[in-house]
Amino acid sequence: MDGVTDGSYRECLTALFGGRSGISLCVSEFVRVTRQPVVERVFLRHCPELARGGKTRAGVPVFVQLLGGEPHWMARAAETAVALGAPGIDLNFGCPAKTVNSSDGGATLLKDPCRVEAVTRAVRAAVPAELPVTVKIRVGWEDPSPVVEIARAAEAGGASWLTIHGRTRRQLYKPPVDYEAIGRAQAAVSMAVVANGDLFGVPSLFEAAQRSGCTAFMIGRGAMGRPELFARARGTQRAALDPRPFEALLDVYADTLLASGANERNTLGRLKQWLRMAAMLRADMKLAFEQCKRLQTLDEARAKLREILLRDPSEPLELAG
Ligand SMILES: Cc1cc2nc3c(=O)[nH]c(=O)nc-3n(C[C@H](O)[C@H](O)[C@H](O)COP(=O)(O)O)c2cc1C
Repeated sequence: MDGVTDGSYRECLTALFGGRSGISLCVSEFVRVTRQPVVERVFLRHCPELARGGKTRAGVPVFVQLLGGEPHWMARAAETAVALGAPGIDLNFGCPAKTVNSSDGGATLLKDPCRVEAVTRAVRAAVPAELPVTVKIRVGWEDPSPVVEIARAAEAGGASWLTIHGRTRRQLYKPPVDYEAIGRAQAAVSMAVVANGDLFGVPSLFEAAQRSGCTAFMIGRGAMGRPELFARARGTQRAALDPRPFEALLDVYADTLLASGANERNTLGRLKQWLRMAAMLRADMKLAFEQCKRLQTLDEARAKLREILLRDPSEPLELAG
């Protein structure tokens, strides 16, 4: 997720539970591709794992995600990413950001499935056959009726598998997630379809599986509040992460960011972003976000997190507002 799930985040999450995080694959934040080559340094910034064979230290592969509408330039960018060691390429046709859509990128291509096919085909032709080229879409631009046509276009272009966020572009992040539309796409293609959207706990994974027929899932925001969700879904962890290990996780995240060259200000910003997302799912993180969001220094935020998350668990949480 752009601006949130950076290389440091991926390192921390995939290292959980001694490397048995339950995560099988990560995708980088999107790399914007316009009508010019993408230089190596941009790829390495978005996907520092490329310097280590395209895997996190725990050994989880990280695909490089490309976002753009020009088949030729998308293919050239894919070639560069692969030459740098990307284990796979993911194509983003789901981004709803106005700035991105108005410059011919992301979900805007859903309006014309032929363009999804053309970009996928060009990238597929540029990437060695043994490396996956995957596609990420929403169910449509205005409404979900074209989802089958878009899925077929991705398959015709040579996609290895397809991830579908079960919302239209028009919905942005508003409910509901249309798992049935994801299921219609799954039934219409022979490649695997990965269901995505509001998978915040094991019950929602079961519900999505039942309603879509999918057996593979992509989790975005849910992982920020429930990093244990992947392991719980696989049955290797039983309980939610206690505040204490969560505090340790956030602490390691800040240290990892600083070690990767981020300055204190950016590290503080990223930490607040994580807290903001985690606040959707956890009362303790809601409190932590409320208390940290106006703090000006990283030291203050880390001290506040320790105070909140390492407090005596017998004291009830008092939520502001
Ligand atoms: C802040 C933010 C940034 C995102 N950036 C990306 C991105 O770079 N690439 C992508 O494929 N999806 C991106 N997404 C969409 C998520 O991958 C996912 O499809 C969406 O959040 C729904 O899934 P979730 O409910 O599991 O989060 C982003 C979402 C958010 C909230």
